[in-house]
Amino acid sequence: MKNIICLIKDEVLALNQKYMDESEDHYDFWEQHIKYVVGNALNLASKYQADAEIVELGALLHDIALIAKIGTKKDHHMNGAVLAKELLSKYEYPQDRAERVIGCVFNHRTSKNATNIEELCVADADILAHFDNMSMIINNAKKHNATVDDVIERCRHDFEDLSETSKEIFKPKYELFIENIEKGLHLI
Ligand SMILES: [Fe+2]
Ligand SMILES: [Fe+2]
Repeated sequence: MKNIICLIKDEVLALNQKYMDESEDHYDFWEQHIKYVVGNALNLASKYQADAEIVELGALLHDIALIAKIGTKKDHHMNGAVLAKELLSKYEYPQDRAERVIGCVFNHRTSKNATNIEELCVADADILAHFDNMSMIINNAKKHNATVDDVIERCRHDFEDLSETSKEIFKPKYELFIENIEKGLHLI
C-alpha cells in the first residue's frame, strides 16, 4: 500500500484536475499554490522541529474545500476540516494524528490561530507561498486592475500575518519580492 502522503496527494491532484476541467476559471491550485505551500511547510517543519508528516498532510489538505468547490471561501477552513477528516479516515490514518492534521486545516487562515507548531508551519507556509509565485501576483493584479501600491499593500498585509519568528527569518525574501514586484508591475 502507498504511504499516506502519496494517497492524500493523489486525492488532491484528482480533485485539482476535476476543478480545472469543470470550473470557469480553470485555475490550477496545485501548480499555482498548493505545491509551494507544501514546499514551504516542509522547510518550516525542519526549521521548527515540527512533525513533518502532519505538516505535509496539513499543507496538502489546507485548501481542499476550495479545490472540491464545497461551500464558500469564507468557510473553507471549516469545510476543509470535514473533508480532511473523511479522507484521512478513508485510509485509516490513526485518529490522534488525523486530529492534528485537521487542526492544521481548520487553523490555517492565520498563524495567530495556530495552537501548536504544526499548525503554525501550515499557516505561515500558506503566506510564504505567495512570495514564491511572482507571476500569479502579477496576473491577479492585471485581472483586478490593481495598482502597484495595492499589490504591495496586500503583500505587506500578508507578511504581517506571519508568526514573529517567520517574519524575522523571511524578511530578506519578502523585501526582495517587493523590489521585484515593483520592477515587474512597472513593465506591464
Ligand atoms: Fe486557505
Ligand atoms: Fe492556501
